This record gives sequence, C-alpha cells and structure tokens, in this order.
Amino acid sequence: DGLAVIVVAAGSGTRLGYGMPKALVPVAGRPILEIALESVARAAPGADIIVTVPAGDSGLSDVAAAHGARPVTGGATRAQSVACGLAALGSDSRFVLVHDAARCLVPTRVTSAVVAALASGERAVVPVLPVTDTVRGVDAQGHSTGTVDRSGLRAVQTPQGFEAQLLVDVNLQAGLLERDEQGALTPVDRAEDPEGITDDASLIERFTPEVPVTFLAGDEESFKITRPFDLITARAVLEERAR
Ligand code: CTP
Ligand code: MG
Repeated sequence: DGLAVIVVAAGSGTRLGYGMPKALVPVAGRPILEIALESVARAAPGADIIVTVPAGDSGLSDVAAAHGARPVTGGATRAQSVACGLAALGSDSRFVLVHDAARCLVPTRVTSAVVAALASGERAVVPVLPVTDTVRGVDAQGHSTGTVDRSGLRAVQTPQGFEAQLLVDVNLQAGLLERDEQGALTPVDRAEDPEGITDDASLIERFTPEVPVTFLAGDEESFKITRPFDLITARAVLEERAR
C-alpha cells in the first residue's frame, strides 16, 4: 500500500572488526541483516523492502532475496547508499522508511509508530531518545568548554520515515541523486557527502526548512550494533525475547 523500506546494509563494519560486512556478522547464529529484515517485516507486512549491499557483495544479496527484499548496490557513504535505495523505489511508493540494518532489534512498536505518523500526515518522522550521559564540549587542546544542557538534546535512531517524494527531492537538491535523460533517478558518486549530512532528516532541515521534522519515542532496543560490546547486548536481548 505504497510503503517502501530502505534497509541500509552496505557498510563495511570497520569498528566491529569482523573482516566482513557488519550485516553479515551473526548474532545468535543468524546474520544481522536477517534479524533486521524480520523486525521490519513484522511491523510493515507487504512493504517493498530494498536492501543496500556493498559493491561486489557476497552473501547479503542472498540474505535479502531469501526474505523477499530487493538487493541493490550501495555507495561509498551511508547517505550515498540511501540515494542508491531511493533510485530503486517503485513509482507507487508514497512513503519510505530508511532503516539501519545495524539497528536489527528495533521493536515493532517503533516502526509501526513511524508508519502511523506518516499515515496521519506527518512528512518527516524521527524516533529519538533522551540523552542519558552528561555531555561536554571540548576545544582543540582537549580542554572542556563546559557541560551542554542535555535536556535540550535527543539521540537519533532509525527507522526514519518520510513522504517518499520529499526525501527524493532533498536528495536531488543535495546532489546525491540526479535524473538521467529518460528522467530516471540515478545515484551520484561523490568523494564526500555534502557538508552537514549526518542523517536523512537533516537533509529535510537543510533543504526544505519549512517542513517540520517530527520526533516520536524511540527505544533502547533500537541501538545500533557498532562495536564488539554491542554484540553482547544484542545476543542478550534476543535471549530475553526467547524466554
Ligand atoms: N551503510 C551503508 N553504506 C555505507 C555505509 C554504511 O549502507 N557506505 C549502512 C551500514 O551498513 C549500517 C548503517 O549504514 O547498517 C549505519 O552505519 P554504520 O553503523 O557506520 O555501519 P558501518 O559503516 O558498516 O560501520 P563502520 O562505520 O564501523 O565501518
Ligand atoms: Mg560507518
């Protein structure tokens, strides 16, 4: 019903340090991508699911296809991988979610809430959590510049949800996507991302500041598997859910 999900899985997983793409690393015996696709499909049955995989991928495309998702080759950065996914969107996609494969344990409730917010008319939706650490600024010498008021901060998660046309438009404006002579969307290879792009919603704020970006409640279980310690947490969450 017009919902597409881009699951970005084209990263290399350098910080995890397994010598393979992070989304292929097993948690409790199953690749991170497989767990992520099951989490997404539970909340968005029937959605068109696109998975970005590394160039020259061995393995992730098979995992995607086995779960009814469409693999496409990603780009050099996360933002460029999202653009690769957008170029593969069907013309009937009204809404699109962008989700990190590395947030494989996202609860159904969160994804459902993002979809519901889009259905109720929000155009850009971001799940967030309060920041629990004390946060300080630092200068070039490594000295503290003072404590930042964390009550005014939120940590950003995925899936982020968008009106599909809006996310395509801001990717075109950012030079991450272009249209070929036939009018088809094609990703642009770039050495670096446009400045100031740290997540998908930041493109909206930069290029269409009149469109409000709406926050809703994220979840601790949507944490991103980044370093080896996170694998321990992920395994524990799966074990807890299986009890
Ligand atoms: N990603 C992607 N394409 C890239 C870089 C990242 O699709 N060129 C995806 C990753 O696969 C991941 C998500 O974006 O699901 C978040 O990125 P991150 O956690 O940084 O993963 P990696 O880039 O793989 O890890 P690292 O930075 O440690 O190499
Ligand atoms: Mg990365």
